[in-house]
Amino acid sequence: MLVDRLTQTCEGDTTQVVEVLSMELQHGIIAENDAANSACVISDWRSCIADIPGWLKDEEAALLYESAQALSDHGRIVEIGSFLGRSTVCLACGLEKASRPARETVLAIDPHVHPPTVHPQYEPIQGRTTEADAANPRGVFEANLVRAELQHRVEIMQAYSVDAAKRIDQPCGLIFIDGDHSYKSASGDLAAFGKHLHPKGRIFMHDYKSWDGVTQAVDEAVSRDEWTIERVVQSIAVLRR
Ligand SMILES: C[S@@+](CC[C@H](N)C(=O)[O-])C[C@H]1O[C@@H](n2cnc3c(N)ncnc32)[C@H](O)[C@@H]1O
Repeated sequence: MLVDRLTQTCEGDTTQVVEVLSMELQHGIIAENDAANSACVISDWRSCIADIPGWLKDEEAALLYESAQALSDHGRIVEIGSFLGRSTVCLACGLEKASRPARETVLAIDPHVHPPTVHPQYEPIQGRTTEADAANPRGVFEANLVRAELQHRVEIMQAYSVDAAKRIDQPCGLIFIDGDHSYKSASGDLAAFGKHLHPKGRIFMHDYKSWDGVTQAVDEAVSRDEWTIERVVQSIAVLRR
């Protein structure tokens, strides 16, 4: 896809992507419609998440956005680990952009405790979160959804994934896992939520090859032939049956 090609060429620097896009358009290398769509895709998720602290990188954000946008009738979108909403907003923004029926939402699962249980790197991230905000993760999460005007596209489930998985009652088309990064939880989430995946759905596992527990969980499941890695985008492994 055009955005993928440009993002790769520009090594994820989205400002440069927009510049290359307009240059290619000027020189007739790409059509006006394609350029307009891609510029829209880029600016949409970018502006929505610009002020939301988190670890999600640009290419990962674009992947979530585009995958949510492209999802057809293969079930709902589920996110495990919302934190302050960086990934949630990308997913919700994709749904919105695709003008999916209003009842379609992202199911955003997170216990919203402070400090977040399993992110030792968590400090009020790089000075971007005040202590007061840090102590109220759900409040900040909800405020971020409102600011992005996407609150209607998100159903919040304040719960640990182990309990949340038991409450899923419909097939899921896109499951983004970014919760507890320990081996036990990552492999547990993969197994428990994998059961709810639509046959044509995908699991997006964040922090593959950057967190040992996540990497081990994915590699073991792949070696047991439970999952195939379709692609890896920065630290997101996209898994299919
Ligand atoms: C790395 S952060 C998620 C970052 C987020 N996806 C983003 O893009 O900014 C991990 C989140 O997982 C949540 N979490 C920790 N253990 C969890 C569990 N067992 N089930 C669900 N969420 C969990 C934490 O509360 C934290 O908010």
